[in-house]
Amino acid sequence: MNRRGNVPLVDLAAAHRENAAVLEDAAVKVLRSGRYILGPEVEAFEEELAAYAGVDQAVGVASGSDALLLALKSLDLPPASTVLTSPFTFFATASCIVRLGHRPVFADIDPVGFNLDIARVAKAVADEEVRVVIGVDLYGDPLDYDALREAVGRPEVKIIEDAAQSFGAELRKRKAGSLADIATFSFFPAKNLGAAGDGGAVVTDDPGLAERVRILRAHGVRPKYHHHYVGYNSRLDPLQAALLRIKLAKVDDDVRRRRRVAERYALLAEVAELPRPLPDHYHSYNYFVIAAPRRDELARCLKDAGVGHAVYYPRPLHLQPCFAGLGYHEGSFPEAEAACERAIALPMYPQLNEDDQNHVIETVLRFYR
Ligand SMILES: Cc1ncc(COP(=O)(O)O)c(C=O)c1O
Repeated sequence: MNRRGNVPLVDLAAAHRENAAVLEDAAVKVLRSGRYILGPEVEAFEEELAAYAGVDQAVGVASGSDALLLALKSLDLPPASTVLTSPFTFFATASCIVRLGHRPVFADIDPVGFNLDIARVAKAVADEEVRVVIGVDLYGDPLDYDALREAVGRPEVKIIEDAAQSFGAELRKRKAGSLADIATFSFFPAKNLGAAGDGGAVVTDDPGLAERVRILRAHGVRPKYHHHYVGYNSRLDPLQAALLRIKLAKVDDDVRRRRRVAERYALLAEVAELPRPLPDHYHSYNYFVIAAPRRDELARCLKDAGVGHAVYYPRPLHLQPCFAGLGYHEGSFPEAEAACERAIALPMYPQLNEDDQNHVIETVLRFYR
């Protein structure tokens, strides 16, 4: 607990304290180097990230949201293409589709685990002119891209893995980020691999796609002042890259500690539905989200007990005002809508100690007894 007797949802200052000296030295080294745009720290991080994820290529960009935008743009789709994703994810997974002038369509989720329901995706792909599916590894549990690929059954349909929440996770011993045609990471501070600010990356085995993302992240230029595409200014900062290199070396240990917290939270199974990853999924628990009856009352009780919590996500994307023109309505995706009523995230971070875990567990159990 912190000094006010609260258990926060995440504690980024505690994470920094564990490695403060090395992180601060690395930041000072970059500041003194005079290299503030791309350069050796970003290149070294990209190499280490590709090796970690088990892919050929990694390209550092300014955020996970931009990573999605650049990954989708790199596929070079015809204007107004149809792109399918989940209605139960962070906004950025779908906003990239609209920002590039394409048409988002959604398919409902599986109530267990809250990831896309693969059978429903396959049906939607068969019914509509879907050219790309963006899968989401929600909360840290990878979608089964092998099953998705098989169910979709059309190699011309490209698959993007939004691995913003699943850094360090695995599917059948392959790391999140290596599971689709192209994948995106977010290094938002609260992610499993978190920077001290915004950051993201696109990873892929396809050198052509990686090269296009590299060109797009710097105004579409190659060589200087020759603009192949109308690109962006979306580069990973060397300061962030230097910090991320240090954190990357420790991320597997952090994920193991997250998994130990999740094991203790199993005591909550008698009162709520807990994450139930399948045996060949290695969940990296960016968030620990339970499906809780009387969720909003539970949230008030947690607040009174000083237990941090958050609702990811209170409103599905198909019911967001900015997507009203897509023609969806209440009832279009009942599983996603039900998840929005029940999902609640409990404190989860590697440094969460046993006393604090007990406080969380006891507070939830007491509420339901
Ligand atoms: C599933 C998902 N996709 C995309 C993003 C966007 O990442 P960022 O915040 O780095 O732009 C996030 C993170 O917030 C996310 O959780």
